[in-house]
Amino acid sequence: MSIDSPVLPSSSTSSDHPLLQPLNIGGLTIENRLMVAPMAGVTDNPFRRLCKSFGAGHAVSEMIIADTALYARKKSLYRANFDNEIAPISAQIAGAEPDKLAEAARYQIYNGAQIIDINMGCPAKKVCRKLAGSALLQDEDLVAKLLDAAVNAVDAPVTLKTRLGFENGRENILRVAKRAEQAGIAAIAIHGRTREDMYTGEARYELIREVKDSISIPVIANGDIDSAQKAQHVYEMTGCDAVMIGRAAQGQPWIFRDIEHFLRTGDVLDAPSVSEIKEVVLAHLQELYDFYGEYSGCRIARKHIAWYTTGIPNSNAFRQAMYGEESTAGQFRVVERFLQTHE
Ligand SMILES: Cc1cc2nc3c(=O)[nH]c(=O)nc-3n(C[C@H](O)[C@H](O)[C@H](O)COP(=O)(O)O)c2cc1C
Repeated sequence: MSIDSPVLPSSSTSSDHPLLQPLNIGGLTIENRLMVAPMAGVTDNPFRRLCKSFGAGHAVSEMIIADTALYARKKSLYRANFDNEIAPISAQIAGAEPDKLAEAARYQIYNGAQIIDINMGCPAKKVCRKLAGSALLQDEDLVAKLLDAAVNAVDAPVTLKTRLGFENGRENILRVAKRAEQAGIAAIAIHGRTREDMYTGEARYELIREVKDSISIPVIANGDIDSAQKAQHVYEMTGCDAVMIGRAAQGQPWIFRDIEHFLRTGDVLDAPSVSEIKEVVLAHLQELYDFYGEYSGCRIARKHIAWYTTGIPNSNAFRQAMYGEESTAGQFRVVERFLQTHE
């Protein structure tokens, strides 16, 4: 199987659930409102295409630092590779200087992106130390300047991905969202946590609902959506225009098919069989090897293999052995053999 082959039931378009309707983002149409969240080190070109083949209507690239001096680096080239992607293509950029952010936005449009997504949610120390990512939420005037700069730099929709705020008790997402709308941002994705929360506790959806009620651009709800029922719950809690799924898609890109099926029929799909998992994993591995080449392909594939095999009997011992494989051919062989024994 190819990772681009359609795996959705053909009747999927007949549903009238709001999350299965097309979404307009700044004049571009997204097929449905199920999105895969940007995840650095995970949502590379092969993974984005895989999620879309399972029914994700939209995917955003991994974060690309807004510094054109870094663009020739191998990591940036991989992150900004949109070959064979289903449109619309969205490139995520992060930075704290309006001029650099504008330049990066222009560059990514030239590079093939059709939507620019601004990251103001990343909690990583490395990013926050440069007052980028979620650290920006501490300076709302700078937020507005950055958004203005990006929106004015390109003749394409600019979206924003952010959190509820920087610190608990000082959540400022309502003001940030208002300023985003005023700047001409085309849609806003909100992870229901603050930077202080990092990934702890549970995502909070009440403030996302308040944002939805206070602005008229599309609001995308994100955080802890790990099943079809949870997607429906978050939709009901927030009234959001779309849902965005991150960690729950790791090792289970078919979650988009599960959600689509549930929203369309009300039935929960059975978990995929090991045979189907094998088919998906092997196709994914081949794509990773083709994309990254022998050395990086083998290393980057390891985490995906670990996610895919979690929960399969004896997978702990298998993973230890798999980590020792240094070639793509050897890795492919051990994965195929392990999954075959569980078919
Ligand atoms: C490994 C990893 C990498 C991430 N990288 C990014 C990123 O590059 N840009 C971004 O906006 N958010 C990033 N995030 C945050 C996710 O997009 C998402 O907001 C967060 O994981 C919450 O959603 P979830 O509960 O569905 O995982 C990352 C999250 C993880 C787990």
